[in-house]
Amino acid sequence: MSSPNSAPPTALSAGVRAVRAVGRVSGSVEVPGDKSITHRAVMFNALADGVATVRGAGLGGDCLSTADAMRTLGAQVQRCWPTGALTDDLRRDPETGADVREDAVLIVRGAGESGLSEPIDVIDAGNSGTTARLLSGVLAAQPFFSVLTGDESLRSRPMGRVITPLRSMGARIEARARGSLLPLAVAPAALRGIRYQLPVASAQLKSALILAGVFADGETVIESPEASRDHTERLLAAQGVDVTTDGSGLAVCVRPTGRALKAVDVTVPGDISSAAFWLVAACIHPNARVTVRNVGVNPSRTGIIDALRAMGATIAVANERSIGGEPVADLTASSARLRGIGIGGAIVPRLVDELPILAIAAAVAEGATTVSDAAELRVKESDRIATVAKGLEALGVHVTERPDGMIIAGSGQIGGGEVSSHGDHRIAMAFAIGGLVASTAVTIEGAAAVGISYPAFWPTLAQIAPGSLREH
Ligand code: S3P
Repeated sequence: MSSPNSAPPTALSAGVRAVRAVGRVSGSVEVPGDKSITHRAVMFNALADGVATVRGAGLGGDCLSTADAMRTLGAQVQRCWPTGALTDDLRRDPETGADVREDAVLIVRGAGESGLSEPIDVIDAGNSGTTARLLSGVLAAQPFFSVLTGDESLRSRPMGRVITPLRSMGARIEARARGSLLPLAVAPAALRGIRYQLPVASAQLKSALILAGVFADGETVIESPEASRDHTERLLAAQGVDVTTDGSGLAVCVRPTGRALKAVDVTVPGDISSAAFWLVAACIHPNARVTVRNVGVNPSRTGIIDALRAMGATIAVANERSIGGEPVADLTASSARLRGIGIGGAIVPRLVDELPILAIAAAVAEGATTVSDAAELRVKESDRIATVAKGLEALGVHVTERPDGMIIAGSGQIGGGEVSSHGDHRIAMAFAIGGLVASTAVTIEGAAAVGISYPAFWPTLAQIAPGSLREH
């Protein structure tokens, strides 16, 4: 469906950048608004009764996909510019025409009591797993027909894990490859609550079922093998939904209230998954100190800090505060001698998106790092076990792949070479950071993929490591 915000389909494999080592890495930066929280602030307020303001929204390609999807379903999502102008195009400054992603204030007018409306075309979630999974739970409970698809990467990612429990709630969903892949078609249905044990500790799956549970008849209880990010639970509770968790975060219970969700203003903290690149850059570089201000430090997301500290890093957490129900802090990292560690078990969902950049830290560390219990990496935007291993091997690092992880033989140094992002934003950014310490330049093919979560990544790299970046 055409929209002012959608990216051209080939964009993720475009662009080449070369990064080379420089003498100093330093600075104080902010990162884009948290992607997980932005998705939820836009999607849940689009369901709500009233108008909400979302400040500090991340405007990477994934969050634009959610905004487009919710518009297709009848909600209004606009950007409010400092002049007071309101635009449907969330990126382009109406006065200068420039693509401006920072400091975004979004105004979301929810569908409310009258409900979402039947989309007249296919909903395109683009590259965004969060949009596709969460929206499946919403669509399953609607009294209308809808079709959901995504880009080539998303169309190869598992949807059966969402469709199976939704069907047992009464959803009528058909999907490609015997119900396991997008596109999927959803027919009107009335849902009933279930008790369900998630096969994987996935916040996307958990959130899809919580959302379906909001509109179902009776109570829905979801149990997870490990705790995962809880942004859905926090925001829905603020919107008046009866959602409760046990202390461990392993079980969630949602009961329908019969009332529409309340519109709630959200101030989005900086994304710790984006901050992770600068933290690792500072840790692995011999002459570095970087502060990332205003970062979300929800404990379900801070595994990166715990893992880096276990490797010997010095990371200071300062100015801790709570903004809109989410903990926020300023993080400072500086040069350290890192050593290899084991990463597995309950920490994995707390750093799942940071494993590519942690793999770079592991390669530069002394000794082996073993990643286990992370089979989920194989079904992210790329097979991140394979794409990390391939990239590191191109830089002369020995990696042993395992079905659920990898062993990285850290030797204190990495070489230069050519690496493909495989259209995966976090792979592109991880290897760019590797370039800051490599013996010769690291060239990244598919550099434009960073726009999925961090459109300003390359200019920020040039800012904290002047002279490191070459455009081809
Ligand atoms: C996300 C959950 C994680 C994460 C993804 C964002 C979310 O996926 O990898 O980038 O916002 O709920 P899984 O739930 O599939 O682990």
